[in-house]
Amino acid sequence: MSERLGMPLSRFILEEQKRHPGARGEFSIIMEQIAIASQVIASHVRKAGLVDILGFTGKINIQGEKVQKLDELANRIFLEAVKSSGRFCAMASEEMNEAVLMANGGQYVIAFDPLDGSSNIDVNVSIGTIFSIHKKVSQGEMATVEDLLQPGYKQVAAGYIIYGSSTMFVYSTGHGVYGFTFDPSVGTYLLSHDPIKIPEKGKIYSVNEANAKRWVEEGLRKYVEWLKEKDEVTKRPYTSRYVGCMVADVHRTLLKGGIFMYPADEKNRNGKLRLLYEANPMGFLVEQAGGMASTGRQRILEIQPESLHQRVPVILGSPYDVEKAVEFIEKYSD
Ligand code: AHG
Ligand code: MN
Ligand code: MN
Repeated sequence: MSERLGMPLSRFILEEQKRHPGARGEFSIIMEQIAIASQVIASHVRKAGLVDILGFTGKINIQGEKVQKLDELANRIFLEAVKSSGRFCAMASEEMNEAVLMANGGQYVIAFDPLDGSSNIDVNVSIGTIFSIHKKVSQGEMATVEDLLQPGYKQVAAGYIIYGSSTMFVYSTGHGVYGFTFDPSVGTYLLSHDPIKIPEKGKIYSVNEANAKRWVEEGLRKYVEWLKEKDEVTKRPYTSRYVGCMVADVHRTLLKGGIFMYPADEKNRNGKLRLLYEANPMGFLVEQAGGMASTGRQRILEIQPESLHQRVPVILGSPYDVEKAVEFIEKYSD
């Protein structure tokens, strides 16, 4: 068992910096700000059910402000936190049409999904927050959209927070993936998963199978049928889990192994998940944990983004399982 278990997030970040010379001290400030923002979001999430009962979604709150939908509120909280860190010059969010670009000297850019799986809010099922960090690459003082449109393999850090039965902060700066659980009695995140390594093969598949008939890839229909067949050697049939919140489904996949997919279908020609806010950060984490992330045709982290809100098909998880899915896609494509 790791001797570091229980170490507070802030101390862990400092120790990691010592272990990796060249690691930038800025990360402690960045992660600290994100951790605080996630706690503010979590406190709102934890009260989500009360809001209706107490009637303070009567649209106007006690300060005379309109009560915002949790997505917008989370967006505002997260945005303010990263702005106030002073380390970012560009921010893009799933909830904002345009990027926020600044000339404040910040050397990093961030893309985030402030509240992922928001259809789960009303039914008290897990939701999350996802973030992806790159270094600024443009030369001018003012950041540009190109700073945000960098391929995923150039990420310097990525992570998510899951608001589940407990709140967890999971992140990577390119030296493995670490998980921290919020301890309400201490009021901070403590190291609980050191490190997270995805199993080589799993036995769970996770996909919205109701869309199977309209998946573009015939190979995926065949693959999922194959997963349901009986075979002792490959431990089939697999079992199925689908939360409908990428953070929760990927979190389980990282810990237990298996495969998570949101493939292209006739309605969503490029799948549903967004490259910058969802596919890239999760792809980075899964690879850092020893797994794979693919569109079925290409490694996700190698895609050159063309626009902020671009979508991509996503197949990620244990190496054995992702390779198998890709094999089926290749076999059935003409
Ligand atoms: P968001 O709430 O940020 O819009 O994302 C929801 C996403 C993702 O979390 C999940 O994997 C997927 O939508 C579920 O979609 P379906 O309901 O189509 O299965
Ligand atoms: Mn999302
Ligand atoms: Mn969202």
